Amino acid sequence: MADCREWATPGGRTGDLRGEAKGAPGMGRWTEQVRCPISSLIVTNMAETGSITGSIVVLVSGCGTNLQALIDATADPAYGVRIAAVGADRDDIEGLNRARRAGIPTFVCRVADFTTRADWDAALASQVAAYRPQLVVLAGFMKLTGEAFLRQFGGRSVNTHPALSPSFPGVHGPKEALDYGVKVTGCTLFVVDAGVDTGPIVAQSAVSVHADDTVETLHERIKTVERQMLVDYVGRMVRDGFSVTERKVTIS
Ligand code: GAR
Repeated sequence: MADCREWATPGGRTGDLRGEAKGAPGMGRWTEQVRCPISSLIVTNMAETGSITGSIVVLVSGCGTNLQALIDATADPAYGVRIAAVGADRDDIEGLNRARRAGIPTFVCRVADFTTRADWDAALASQVAAYRPQLVVLAGFMKLTGEAFLRQFGGRSVNTHPALSPSFPGVHGPKEALDYGVKVTGCTLFVVDAGVDTGPIVAQSAVSVHADDTVETLHERIKTVERQMLVDYVGRMVRDGFSVTERKVTIS
């Protein structure tokens, strides 16, 4: 089983990031970004499309406690969301085991199996598309999606990040918040765009930083509110529909 704390510690995943952070800590400017316009997008709700339950695909890279919160929520039909599949960028992770135990189809799409990053991205997009999700949820997915993915799912993919955007983007949110000495941090749910944790913000929850916090204790406390935020807002987005105008996300 994968170490469920693997994402709670600085893990050197920066190779997955496009570009380099410049400027002050927590307010990095990222270079070489591909632009994907997602303004003025409207995703209709399930009542309008005639379905009772909206389907999502969840992408994971590690422990999958956020995924588990979604799996638990979907057990109640009133939640109105079905997880059509869980995808990962690696094998042997607890996130995939959680999906399998719940009887949810899984797939793995590894960068190492493709000649180029763009090929991987296109393959990921087509594997996700096979399940025809209304919304794609990146829940601890530690890869940046690219142009092909954004072409198909831009504006209907959300990602959860363990910091209050726009502070501390990237894969070390809790560590960078602690190092910077902030007294309040938290988590952000946002609509995926081509940047690193830069997309239009759906929701944020704040968490106090304690004097004796370590990266692990802080991240665990963030994850507790993050799971609740994810379940609440994914449910609302799927059930009610949402729109994105410029940077404003409105749930109908
Ligand atoms: C979550 O805190 C998520 O925000 C973070 O990884 C954790 C996954 O936990 N993602 C990022 O840092 C992406 N920038 P989980 O595997 O237990 O759901």
